[in-house]
Amino acid sequence: MRKPIIGGNWKMNRGVPTEAKEMLDKFIPLVKDMDTVDIVIGAPFTVLSTVHDLIKATNIKLSAQNMHFEENGAYTGEIAANFLKSIGCEYIILGHSERRDLFHETDDFINKKLKKALSVGLNPIVCIGEHLEEREAGKTKEIIQNQLNNTFKDLSKDEMLKTVIAYEPIWAIGTGKTATPKQAEEIHAFIRGLLANKYDLDTASKVRIQYGGSVNPANAEDLFKQQNIDGGLVGGASLQADSLSEIVKAADKTIK
Ligand code: PGA
Repeated sequence: MRKPIIGGNWKMNRGVPTEAKEMLDKFIPLVKDMDTVDIVIGAPFTVLSTVHDLIKATNIKLSAQNMHFEENGAYTGEIAANFLKSIGCEYIILGHSERRDLFHETDDFINKKLKKALSVGLNPIVCIGEHLEEREAGKTKEIIQNQLNNTFKDLSKDEMLKTVIAYEPIWAIGTGKTATPKQAEEIHAFIRGLLANKYDLDTASKVRIQYGGSVNPANAEDLFKQQNIDGGLVGGASLQADSLSEIVKAADKTIK
């Protein structure tokens, strides 16, 4: 049985301590005692410590949204994995399509970060997904297979088991246009099949694969009910306590 995981990806929002606190003061009581679901908040760097202080005695875990693969050195503006670990981060979001598209991150670059994150004991949430043109050209599976091969290159079985995959069709991110449960499940099952080929059936059956892209309280349950969907990575709807807590509850309701 895979424990569902709901990640709130705040992106470049709620980065002022008072804003982060306002959300979490409402959110924490709404999800307390929900131990059937892993709950992760991906906050901007400026509020990681604030969020950590607020959630440290709760069931909520802290994530950053980016890091560099080097340990230290002349990388102005960058943040190393061990810095994040030292202030209480347990997760790290890597390979988000916004990092890939807006900041030109390649599979190879993300692979280096992924290995570094694992080496310091951060649990990576790694995003993959196709653009609209790629889906319309019938290339979704080819794109996913390439991203999986290259982004997860040379990962041992143990490392793969510590990694969460987030399937996020790019055309569904922030657009209000969610993949249908059937469209999402088809790709989740495909990803699990690729993992079985690369590792083995047992490993493939244990890796958690989240769906991301316009998840909201109205569509979460139908998505999470699908056999191969293990929760969601949530952007817009993670900014409000009510909507994120409803999504956590949908994950709890659909435990397989
Ligand atoms: P969204 O973002 O829920 O606002 O579509 C999801 C994501 O980018 O992780």
